[in-house]
Amino acid sequence: MSVKSEVLKLLEANRGSSLSGQEIAESLGVTRAAIWKAVNSLKEEGYHIKAVKNRGYCLAGDTDVLSAEGIRLELKEAWRQNEIQIYKRIDSTNQEVKRQALEGKKQGLVVLAEEQSAGKGRLGREFFSPAGSGIYMSVLFRPELEQAKEIVRITTAAAVAVCRAIRKLLGEEPEIKWVNDVYLRGRKICGILTEAVSDFESGQIDTVVVGIGINYHVPEEGFPKELRETAGSVCTGESPAPRNSLAAAVLNELYELYDGLAEGSFLQDYRKWSNVLGKEVRFSSGDSWEYGRAVDIDEKGGLVVQGEDGEKKVLRTGEITLRVC
Ligand code: BTN
Repeated sequence: MSVKSEVLKLLEANRGSSLSGQEIAESLGVTRAAIWKAVNSLKEEGYHIKAVKNRGYCLAGDTDVLSAEGIRLELKEAWRQNEIQIYKRIDSTNQEVKRQALEGKKQGLVVLAEEQSAGKGRLGREFFSPAGSGIYMSVLFRPELEQAKEIVRITTAAAVAVCRAIRKLLGEEPEIKWVNDVYLRGRKICGILTEAVSDFESGQIDTVVVGIGINYHVPEEGFPKELRETAGSVCTGESPAPRNSLAAAVLNELYELYDGLAEGSFLQDYRKWSNVLGKEVRFSSGDSWEYGRAVDIDEKGGLVVQGEDGEKKVLRTGEITLRVC
């Protein structure tokens, strides 16, 4: 680990308190000049580090830079060694994880970016990913035989992971719009895009990339016109915690749910947070639209809809809109 990374780890672990340059230097076995250099470099990257005479360095509580050190600090022991990579700007974190999966990267790899130049949404859409305000994060899974059987549940599990993390951090109740949009205070604050790659010979799913995009702060330039009516942000004013904390909370929940995919009890949470169950919905069926009532979420995360003729259908993908009568 580099001196800069070690210094950041110490500062993150002591957010808001001062650490003397001498103490840091001694604990890392390097010179005070090396610490000064590392601190300056961190400042250039956007960390608010105050140097207080006779007290040392202090990472200000309002610092909000995504970092592997900050996230790892809040990860549960079992997953702390997973590889975490942070990019300032990238085309798409999902694309990056898929590229690295082809090179043989292990399960658990997490890629985050401060900004995406070609963020991908579902159904071929773009995902608005401006710098500094969101959490754009993709996780690599390599399902073994048992997990592979239930892997279809991973998107549903990811939506539950985001909701659990938000409730823990903010104490507020989010909602899920089937399939995987998370809403807070009536606005979409998160979208999830799961991509799978199968092994050509065995036909088994070999790689699954779960991409999670969360609007955390209100973007500096606001949302683009087409999203203005529907999109929102987790924080509307002062943030309760840095983005690293929410990223770590989501990862803790997601890894745990992945381990228990077969058991599936998280589906109860999904149903509880669903904002479509019991409502009249419009869904696409071939070239036309159909109407019905959303009555359940099945064991695979499909939406069970009862049509106007009383027949039940299970929707596995696509999109629904709430019917306005
Ligand atoms: C949607 O709302 O349609 C899904 C959006 C998923 C966005 C995330 S951001 C991180 C990851 N990288 C991408 O390019 N997309 C996903």
